[in-house]
Amino acid sequence: MRINGIEKQTIWLNEDGWSVDIIDQTVLPHKFVVVNLKTLDDAAYAIKAMLVRGAPLIGATAAYGLCLALKNDVSDDAMSKACDYLNEQRPTAVNLRWALSVMTNHLSPLPKEARLEAAYKKAAEIVADDIETCRLIGVHGLELIKDIAAKKSPGETINILTHCNAGWLATTQWGTATSPIYHAAKAGIPVHVWVDETRPRNQGASLTAYELGHEEIPHTIIVDNAGGHLMQHGKVDLCIVGTDRTAANGDVCNKIGTYLKALAAHDNNIPFYVALPSTTIDWTLNNGFDIPIEERGQEEVLQMTGRLSSSEKGEMVTIDIAASGSPAANPAFDVTPAKYVSGLITEKGVVEANSSALAELKTELKNVA
Ligand code: MRU
Repeated sequence: MRINGIEKQTIWLNEDGWSVDIIDQTVLPHKFVVVNLKTLDDAAYAIKAMLVRGAPLIGATAAYGLCLALKNDVSDDAMSKACDYLNEQRPTAVNLRWALSVMTNHLSPLPKEARLEAAYKKAAEIVADDIETCRLIGVHGLELIKDIAAKKSPGETINILTHCNAGWLATTQWGTATSPIYHAAKAGIPVHVWVDETRPRNQGASLTAYELGHEEIPHTIIVDNAGGHLMQHGKVDLCIVGTDRTAANGDVCNKIGTYLKALAAHDNNIPFYVALPSTTIDWTLNNGFDIPIEERGQEEVLQMTGRLSSSEKGEMVTIDIAASGSPAANPAFDVTPAKYVSGLITEKGVVEANSSALAELKTELKNVA
């Protein structure tokens, strides 16, 4: 995807050939800062403090974090401790656990002297696979947008609502929820995106709007509570969101507030699709309500960070927005039951959100592997 017309990825190997560069997403859209990760601690901090975020990108960062750990020690013990440490950083997105198990399954049987090089190769493969997976999600999701376009007058705009950032900043390229949108725009279908601001961290207003702007996709930021109203007034044709973990029965766990959008879409007969790489499916869980929900600090609710509009330098500041002394709760994700999901847009095609359709997908994935 492009920033000021230049193609970018969200994570890449530094030119030194071993350290890892990421974009610090905590200061976007106000500053574009590249951070260099040199140690396991750097990678763990980047995940925990959300310099990188979004399920697939968390997984890719963890894979490279393990490479950085192996640079010091390639023993089984060091590898296992590094995985435990990385896994602790964020509990909900299953891609963290998935990426680390792909890495260790590949590395454990290898002789120690071969592990470091193999680790970097595998991490690069995880990134390359994610790019292709997200591209394919876009190809399949485009068909859904085409179907909606076919029911409208020629040239009429398709209005798509999305929540949080399941864009290229959450993956390594394309995004999941945004990939069908980018593919539709490239196919000449007029699209407009309603971008939920996504309190408390504002991933929609800060990140989704930023990337849509750079891709020149028409979009409008709305407060999180506006979606239901827009749906009631015929201003939303389709919702597409991402997921951090999908249970084997089709329940999806995504950024807090997703569930309310699904309820509003259901009440207004608006299709509600969830775009995901199959790596986001937790085959060990048959119920979304067993997914651990991350509780984040109350300061994210009680404060806001942004750029001072009045400052010529545009310096960033954090301000208090709540009554002094009031406590806050900050559950970061919620579960949308499968019954509210119109379909799951995967790299293998659009799949129904239920146990039997997902079981078929699992078989298909096994046959390919
Ligand atoms: O807390 P975040 O910003 O990591 O949450 C991200 C989301 O909820 C995304 O929708 C999800 O990871 C899907 S990313 C393709």
